[in-house]
Amino acid sequence: MIKVAPSILSADFSAMGEAVKNVEAWGADYIHLDVMDGNFVPQITFGAMMCKAIRKHTSLPIDAHLMVREPRKYVEAFRDAGADILTFHVEADDHIHGTLQKIKECGMKAGVVLNPATSLSAIEYVLEYCDMILLMSVNPGMGGQKFIPEVVRKIEKLKKMLDDGGHKADIEIDGGINPETAKYCIDAGANVLVAGNSVFTSQNPANTIKLIRNHF
Ligand code: DX5
Ligand code: ZN
Repeated sequence: MIKVAPSILSADFSAMGEAVKNVEAWGADYIHLDVMDGNFVPQITFGAMMCKAIRKHTSLPIDAHLMVREPRKYVEAFRDAGADILTFHVEADDHIHGTLQKIKECGMKAGVVLNPATSLSAIEYVLEYCDMILLMSVNPGMGGQKFIPEVVRKIEKLKKMLDDGGHKADIEIDGGINPETAKYCIDAGANVLVAGNSVFTSQNPANTIKLIRNHF
């Protein structure tokens, strides 16, 4: 089942409640929250308080992508704010296994994120603890960037790693996703697609979500 997770990084920050209601009305599967601390990535966006604020405006699962250093510090705050899925960057955490465990102990789905250059070997020994693995197809920190095609090969390799090990984790791809790039990613094995710019700049966002999901 292919899921589409619009990123509210591209939404109107002055009307976020409205934005998530629209995302749900457009037929999306998740709300993708791009949490940035201005340290791991140059940009600062928002924290758990934004998650809490939008929680009452949507019944969709909230998929929080932590682009922050020491992500473990924020796990309980995102649980209390109503996040359903919490992913964090392996490049920003010294104790990946422990942080995954902490997220699961808090009752959320847990996942790790790899930047485009980070090798899959970094997560070889934690696959069984992951509900989802997010592969960045842009360098984190901004919406509207160009898709990095080398990541397609990485999706294929990850899919094989998961299948060979009998693991059921979702593969999420994030950055530069539109109906064209989505096709390559889905064919390679990704099943959760983050899309910010392509959805929020579309004349017909519901149709764009449909085209991303039913890649032709
Ligand atoms: C980038 C974020 C992505 C980004 C995707 O740091 O993690 O989620 O917002 O946005 P688009 O789809 O605009 O590339
Ligand atoms: Zn993201």
